[in-house]
Amino acid sequence: MKISDRKVIMFAGKGGVGKTTCASATALQCANCGERVLIVSTDPTPSLIDIFNIEMTKKLTVVSDNLFVLEVSEDEIKEMWDRKFGEEVYEVFSSFVDIEYDVFVDFITSILPGLGEEFMVDYIRELAISNAYDRIIWDTAPLGQTLGLLKVPEMLYEHLRMAPRIYSHLKLGGMSKRPILDIIGGWCSLSEDNIEFLKHDVDIIIVTIPEALAVEQMERVFAEFKHFGLNISKIFINNCIEEVDSKFMRTKREQQMVHIATIKERYAHLGIYEIPLFPVEVRGIDRLNDVRATLFGEANS
Ligand SMILES: Nc1ncnc2c1ncn2[C@@H]1O[C@H](COP(=O)(O)OP(=O)(O)OP(=O)(O)O)[C@@H](O)[C@H]1O
Ligand SMILES: [Mg+2]
Repeated sequence: MKISDRKVIMFAGKGGVGKTTCASATALQCANCGERVLIVSTDPTPSLIDIFNIEMTKKLTVVSDNLFVLEVSEDEIKEMWDRKFGEEVYEVFSSFVDIEYDVFVDFITSILPGLGEEFMVDYIRELAISNAYDRIIWDTAPLGQTLGLLKVPEMLYEHLRMAPRIYSHLKLGGMSKRPILDIIGGWCSLSEDNIEFLKHDVDIIIVTIPEALAVEQMERVFAEFKHFGLNISKIFINNCIEEVDSKFMRTKREQQMVHIATIKERYAHLGIYEIPLFPVEVRGIDRLNDVRATLFGEANS
């Protein structure tokens, strides 16, 4: 398989299917090809460090000369969000509700699912623009409402637009004299920038396993991405049984083959790659290299 032309490769899929494993194997391949690679995890329970079997030293962990691991915790996401959007959004909300700033930030970052993801898109966009890396591999959190929140500012804006008379009478605190609609408008255009970035600069790979539930969930994931006009380029089907040495395994493989066939039929226009189920957990660079080789071939070691 050829590595993507796009600078950012995002791995998405349901919990536990092998996103981090596939992201790490792809990062290794890019690094082997001489690219300067950052693999970044936005999972609230990060495991890149475990998978690479390395010790985390600083925020940015060095795996090799040109491969770096960055795990961003929820608290850090909250802090970055606060720095970038906090004040402006607070201005809007505090014009409706009497609330302290700190309480507001805690409230909003904990209660709105997907806000961290929205911020992460923005954060990764900035990383991509900075040109610090040739390639950014983005290991996402299990998909729930991941991208749903990208649309929130727009909805809010629409809502406010419908009721200008009420809102134009609302007074903002001393911080700003900017009209609410202006502030939300700015927030909207930032969301649009992020969507544009996802559309044009990010290659999206869905990781799944050959099981009924996972295949059904993929349908929803595809619908969600399509709604935002985002293209999924490839599907990795992980944990495929290859060798059969018992009745149990044969039965299991027969079931898997039904689901693999469904995926191939339904998504015939995409690149579909099967990754074998290994008898041992994929931990450490050597094992990751086995996964890398099944995807990209042996030539690069
Ligand atoms: N092909 C494989 N063969 C054997 N074990 C695998 C394979 N792929 C992944 N694993 C193991 O399965 C477990 C889950 O994989 P991984 O952490 O990559 O999934 P994930 O989708 O990132 O999970 P989460 O949604 O929790 O982030 C790990 O212990 C990993 O070593
Ligand atoms: Mg993971």
